Amino acid sequence: MGKKILLEHVNVPGINTLEVYRQNGGYASVEKSLKTMAPEVIVEEVKKSGLRGRGGAGFPTGMKWSFLAKPEGVERYLVVNADESEPGTFKDRYLMEKIPHILIEGMITSSFALGAKTSYIYIRGEYFYVARILEAAIEEAYAAGLLGKNILGTNFSHDVFVQIGAGAYICGEETALLESLEGKRGNPRIKPPFPAIAGLYGCPTVVNNVETIAAVPYIVMNGGDAYAKIGIGRSTGTKLISASGHINKPGVYEIEMGITVEDFIYSDEYCGGILNGKKLKAVVAGGSSVPILPAGFILTTEKGEPRLMTYESLSDGGFVSGTSMGSGGFIVYDETTSIVKNLYTFARFYHHESCGQCSPCREGTGWMEKILHRILEGHGKPSDIDLLWDIQRKIEGNTICPLGDAAAWPVASAIRHFRAEFEEYINHPERITDVKHLQELVS
Ligand SMILES: Cc1cc2nc3c(=O)[nH]c(=O)nc-3n(C[C@H](O)[C@H](O)[C@H](O)COP(=O)(O)O)c2cc1C
Repeated sequence: MGKKILLEHVNVPGINTLEVYRQNGGYASVEKSLKTMAPEVIVEEVKKSGLRGRGGAGFPTGMKWSFLAKPEGVERYLVVNADESEPGTFKDRYLMEKIPHILIEGMITSSFALGAKTSYIYIRGEYFYVARILEAAIEEAYAAGLLGKNILGTNFSHDVFVQIGAGAYICGEETALLESLEGKRGNPRIKPPFPAIAGLYGCPTVVNNVETIAAVPYIVMNGGDAYAKIGIGRSTGTKLISASGHINKPGVYEIEMGITVEDFIYSDEYCGGILNGKKLKAVVAGGSSVPILPAGFILTTEKGEPRLMTYESLSDGGFVSGTSMGSGGFIVYDETTSIVKNLYTFARFYHHESCGQCSPCREGTGWMEKILHRILEGHGKPSDIDLLWDIQRKIEGNTICPLGDAAAWPVASAIRHFRAEFEEYINHPERITDVKHLQELVS
């Protein structure tokens, strides 16, 4: 069994309550940090840990924290991104639902390190019931003197608020989130300035993912070096993976960074192999935005090495033969899957979720959806594949926020790796509806 940091106590009955959480060592990091550590020392430990943001970009957390501007007399904020709208990703929901106090503990310690008197959890509207779980946990923490004025008798006071979004994927992008939190339409802001300089209400702000902040108590209790020893190279610690699709055991798994992709898919500790003994066709390893890879490339890199569950190994080969860890939404497809149909579903999503601010994304996502629809309906033209390629190229890198890239990459990778399937849909639409024929295309 691999090391567990976040989910170690997930099966302890009542772990969602303050009492049981504390019986299992919970909130010790608040006691330790507030009473014995200087804020800069905590930032240093987080830097040493090598912890990277778990929201998708994998930016080093300690470095992000050290960028936070600290002008005198100006409020600073910590905002936890619990929007989790990326198709294939559901690990933050699981963590917040099962162990809400681990997030609150991490928020208190992190806010102390950052000098933030107030923090927010921005949670997607569809997680309404999870917001209620968090609110109940926050109430318990206030009653126990872990939140509010002079926490545990120290000089540090802190308030946490839960803000429910209205169910828009774009509000997971950190500056759109801040706009929404301020009560405005969730349109991404042009950067710079970055939130560390001018974030919520124009004040210095750190935005971190739920899982990122939940890792902080372990780092404070055990030291950054101990955390850095887990994992491989610059992929330190553990990672929550949301596993779904054609596997025997879908669910949320905490893995030590560095296990092989093959082990993750086939071992009984994790996904337990492909459903009904079928063959693996492809994997989307990090949520719908990251490039899809065929079985050959997801299991082995171009250099012939086993592909590992690390930031570096997953992206080995760039976007030609590699992909990305993203937010850890690991979707597995068996040999009966239609890649074109799957891509159409993603394209529809991105078109629906584009905020419309940038024309390449606003127009391009709708156009790609339309073309994919006609290909699926048997009305595709041979030129459609190149047209799709051209459109995604014109979106990528040409928008204010990375939603445009997120819409482009699945299209590019599907064409790159599964062009024959597109051609079959266009040239022989009558054959492609046959699952057996789809299977033949794979082998
Ligand atoms: C369209 C879009 C949606 C995003 N959704 C989320 C999300 O739901 N949760 C999240 O933590 N980060 C999301 N991100 C990434 C955030 O902008 C930001 O990088 C992240 O919250 C930073 O936290 P981290 O450093 O702890 O990863 C999204 C980015 C984009 C472009």
